[in-house]
Amino acid sequence: MNALLALAPLAVAAATSVGPVPFSDHVLPITSKVPRSNAKTQSLKDYMYWASSCFYPPGEGNGTQVSLDAPYGGSQYTVNVTIAGEDYNLILDTGSSDLWLPASNFSCLLAANPMILANYTKEPQSVCEFGSNLFNISDIGEFMPLNYTNNFNISYGVQGYSDLQFATGSSYIGAVGIGNLTVPNAQLNIVYNAEFFGNNVSDGLIGFAGPGLTSVFATANPMNDSAANYEPYLPWFYQAAEDGLVAPYFSLALNRPTFADQETSDVVYDLGYLVLGGLPKCIELTGKYVTVPNHDFNETVNGQNVTLPLWWTTTVDEWTFAGSDAINTTTELIILDSGTFNVYAPNAVAEAYANAFSPPGVYNASEGGYVVPCNATVPPLSVTIGGVEFPFDQRDLIFPLTANGEYCLSTVTNGGNTTSDVYILGDKFFNSAVIAFNVENDTMTIYERKCY
Ligand SMILES: *[C@@H]1O[C@H](CO)[C@@H](O)[C@H](O)[C@H]1NC(C)=O
Ligand SMILES: *[C@@H]1O[C@H](CO)[C@@H](O)[C@H](O)[C@H]1NC(C)=O
Ligand SMILES: *[C@@H]1O[C@H](CO)[C@@H](O)[C@H](O)[C@H]1NC(C)=O
Ligand SMILES: *[C@@H]1O[C@H](CO)[C@@H](O)[C@H](O)[C@H]1NC(C)=O
Ligand SMILES: *[C@@H]1O[C@H](CO)[C@@H](O)[C@H](O)[C@H]1NC(C)=O
Ligand SMILES: *[C@@H]1O[C@H](CO)[C@@H](O)[C@H](O)[C@H]1NC(C)=O
Ligand SMILES: *[C@@H]1O[C@H](CO)[C@@H](O)[C@H](O)[C@H]1NC(C)=O
Ligand SMILES: *[C@@H]1O[C@H](CO)[C@@H](O)[C@H](O)[C@H]1NC(C)=O
Ligand SMILES: *[C@@H]1O[C@H](CO)[C@@H](O)[C@H](O)[C@H]1NC(C)=O
Ligand SMILES: *[C@@H]1O[C@H](CO)[C@@H](O)[C@H](O)[C@H]1NC(C)=O
Ligand SMILES: *[C@@H]1O[C@H](CO)[C@@H](O)[C@H](O)[C@H]1NC(C)=O
Ligand SMILES: *[C@@H]1O[C@H](CO)[C@@H](O)[C@H](O)[C@H]1NC(C)=O
Repeated sequence: MNALLALAPLAVAAATSVGPVPFSDHVLPITSKVPRSNAKTQSLKDYMYWASSCFYPPGEGNGTQVSLDAPYGGSQYTVNVTIAGEDYNLILDTGSSDLWLPASNFSCLLAANPMILANYTKEPQSVCEFGSNLFNISDIGEFMPLNYTNNFNISYGVQGYSDLQFATGSSYIGAVGIGNLTVPNAQLNIVYNAEFFGNNVSDGLIGFAGPGLTSVFATANPMNDSAANYEPYLPWFYQAAEDGLVAPYFSLALNRPTFADQETSDVVYDLGYLVLGGLPKCIELTGKYVTVPNHDFNETVNGQNVTLPLWWTTTVDEWTFAGSDAINTTTELIILDSGTFNVYAPNAVAEAYANAFSPPGVYNASEGGYVVPCNATVPPLSVTIGGVEFPFDQRDLIFPLTANGEYCLSTVTNGGNTTSDVYILGDKFFNSAVIAFNVENDTMTIYERKCY
């Protein structure tokens, strides 16, 4: 491919862009890295039924969701978002599209029996483990409700399994800011009922994926939500770009946590940047990059077939490591997801890669991955996207499972083995890249970072 253009090093003065993406001054620190938890878990294989019904996933594939059992020592990245004059610490998620946070009077529910959807007990709010800053319900007057209440409905995991999490509530229009960029008519969702397993740090979530993954329905009863009444809307950054408030790119530079930080699970401040309107100037790039189109999906909206961006989705041409020769994943869709910690690859890739460790990784279903001693030899790995090879940093290919550092997990874990599976490049891939997302032309530009 000709997509790779070698550029002069960034140190050259007066550069205004690298490749297709300009620099931006809207640089926001990522406020913290918090322990990995179940706070937001992708269940990508649910997509095929998600699109037609969020809360009652019908159709095939019920049993193939990505496990919600999180290994210890992971991370999420959060950003400071200003809503009605208050700052909330929200998970920054390129793998979903809604901005949502629980109201101060929300009900934390726990399924008595996840097979029977209506059967929940009401628990103390602390059981849901959100951060300390619930949305002050007395501020609700600052927002305009839509015509239906109780129309927001998002779920993670699969109904019928004990890892189901959901949040329902009402959608509003109002001012939402990040840094000095305020979007006056952003759509946000206040949650009144949730079954959730949070991390006691993040107050909610802000999604940067496409309109086709939003979760609002034109009915007042979540039980009636379906493709027939689905009402996709523009997520926060898409709205900002649509309103001409900012150039239509955002980029992420997620810094790598230390091994020790991952072991102790403490919050770490200033672990990278969200940049609105272009690229960060403060991150050194190697000059290697590629721009790839986003893969859109077909959905039915109000009886019409429409093609919409959902996740930021591409394909991996090749996973390269010792012993990878036999594996061809050319046609596998994969998403760039800042809300997932590790990497979900086709099962055959994950298994062969685990076998390349010395000693080899051993699959452990309850940990959801391949366990290796932390002093194992980590095999080099790279992914080729759009014809350009991006190596992982070896520090990102293994992470501690327990606090004493004896056992670790391979970052690359099983993401499935069918053609309907969609795989994930999570934070561990972002750690050696800067990724710019173009919401106008629906493309992603992946830049290799200099080693840091
Ligand atoms: C936001 O802050 C940046 C950096 O300080 C500045 O360049 C930009 O002009 C500001 N934008 C607005 C709308 O104030
Ligand atoms: C999926 O789960 C739903 C709800 O439990 C059930 O009605 C449906 O038959 C299941 N589909 C398959 C293919 O198992
Ligand atoms: C969050 O952002 C607001 C507004 O920019 C700022 O006043 C506040 O100090 C920030 N909080 C943190 C924890 O960074
Ligand atoms: C929370 O407050 C809102 C707004 O006053 C109200 O509509 C809702 O019923 C309350 N929810 C609960 C569970 O009390
Ligand atoms: C709800 O769950 C409880 C506890 O498992 C059970 O006793 C009760 O019969 C269930 N109710 C319904 C309507 O299924
Ligand atoms: C609410 O419904 C009315 C009448 O159908 C419509 O004119 C208006 O645009 C709707 N408002 C919103 C916020 O959807
Ligand atoms: C989406 O629909 C278009 C036509 O509307 C069709 O050409 C395309 O193959 C469909 N894509 C998928 C993934 O079904
Ligand atoms: C939408 O696409 C499905 C198959 O993908 C087809 O069965 C259906 O007829 C289409 N509906 C419309 C309104 O085009
Ligand atoms: C990989 O598979 C794709 C699609 O099946 C095929 O077009 C391509 O030639 C294969 N590549 C190699 C190296 O075998
Ligand atoms: C790896 O650590 C184990 C104990 O956890 C120890 O027995 C083994 O000798 C170490 N291997 C190497 C190569 O350091
Ligand atoms: C696919 O994975 C499932 C479990 O995830 C397993 O039961 C099945 O044997 C696998 N199939 C193949 C062809 O590897
Ligand atoms: C989108 O693509 C068009 C056509 O190639 C180009 O003129 C425009 O500059 C692009 N916009 C962005 C924001 O990349």
